[in-house]
Order: sequence, then C-alpha cells, then structure tokens
Amino acid sequence: MSQFDLFDTTQNKVLDSRSYPEFKETLIASNCDKCELFHSRTNIVVDRGNPESKVLMIGEAPGANEDMQGKAFVGRAGQLLDQMLAELGFETNRDSLIINVVKCRPPENRAPNTEEVNACRPYFKEQLKLLSPKFILLLGAVALKHTLRDKKDFSMKEEVGSFFSHTEFPQAKVMVLYHPAYILRDPRKKPKMTEHLQRFVTEWKKLKG
Ligand code: URA
Repeated sequence: MSQFDLFDTTQNKVLDSRSYPEFKETLIASNCDKCELFHSRTNIVVDRGNPESKVLMIGEAPGANEDMQGKAFVGRAGQLLDQMLAELGFETNRDSLIINVVKCRPPENRAPNTEEVNACRPYFKEQLKLLSPKFILLLGAVALKHTLRDKKDFSMKEEVGSFFSHTEFPQAKVMVLYHPAYILRDPRKKPKMTEHLQRFVTEWKKLKG
C-alpha cells in the first residue's frame, strides 16, 4: 500500500487492491468524498482503454461527457485524439489506457485546484504503480505539472514532442503532448501534434515488435 492513512479506511481499502481491475472497482464503489468535487459529479471517472497495454496517457480531469459516461476522454477532445492516433495505426482503446490526474469533473470544466489534486493524488499514484507503463504521454500542461512535480516554470513549447526519462518512472519513456482540446481551439497546431504522435507511435511499434 503506497499512501496508508490511519484515519481513512475507505481510501486504505482502495489502495489495498491487489490488481488494477480490483483497484478500479473498489474506487468506483467507494463513492469517494475526499474533495468538494464529490457534490457535483455524476460518476467517478477512473480511465478508458486497456490496462494491459503499457501505454499510459494522462489528462487533466473529466469533462461533461466523461462525467455522464464514467469514461475518460470520450468527448470532442478524446474523439480527436482517438482519430489522430487511429490514422497512425494506434487504437486508443486497445493500445493504451487513458486516465486523468483528477477523477471527478470540476464544475464549468475549470482546472482542478491544488486541494482537489492532492485529495486524488493517492489514487493517481496507485494507478501509476499498478500499471507500470513503458510509455507515459502527458496531455497538456496540467498533466505535466501534477505528474512531474519537480518541473517548475516550464514552457509547453519547449517540453512537447520529445522523449525523455524521469527518475520517478525509470521504466518509462515519457513524452509531453499538446492537450487535444488545445488543438480543437487552435487547429493550426494539429500538424505539430501529428508529428509528435508519429514520433511516439514509431517508438511504440519498435517495442511491440
Ligand atoms: N479533458 C481531460 O483532460 N480529460 C478528459 O477525460 C476529458 C477532457
């Protein structure tokens, strides 16, 4: 168990899970109320995709569609991501698992605040531990900021598109990508994002064989 809390038996039960499917089931059943987002959410959104895949994509927090369906990245941004990757021979639901830093929808789709991120952090860290991915793709600045906490004052322009390794995830190749919602807002960035995704898929195909 990674972040045992003497006084939080519900959290401890989730973190005591022996496998990723058990973790997911227990977290959903927990009806978590560790932060204020509990009041407005419909579903706890744990992920979407294949936990066996070894590719982990990390976003920010669920939006309205995700909250309704209980699955990550099923709205317009997720559909764009799926489509861009499918064109490169990568099927998101089969070849990756997508999660978010925060599991419940912030009202008005605002960015999650520090309290919310910290409340959810034990679950986020447990996902990283149980999944032990070979590739980590960080979708946007919020995912980068909360996944690699030692990265401060970064510029997305400098971070996106190249592989690097990080001491916290020694087994993984890490890449920062633009958030697909940013591409929806500024389609001129799409060719750059395609270039980055192509770089990732090329490396992933080598590992897959
Ligand atoms: N944006 C995110 O960061 N995550 C989702 O699940 C949906 C939209």
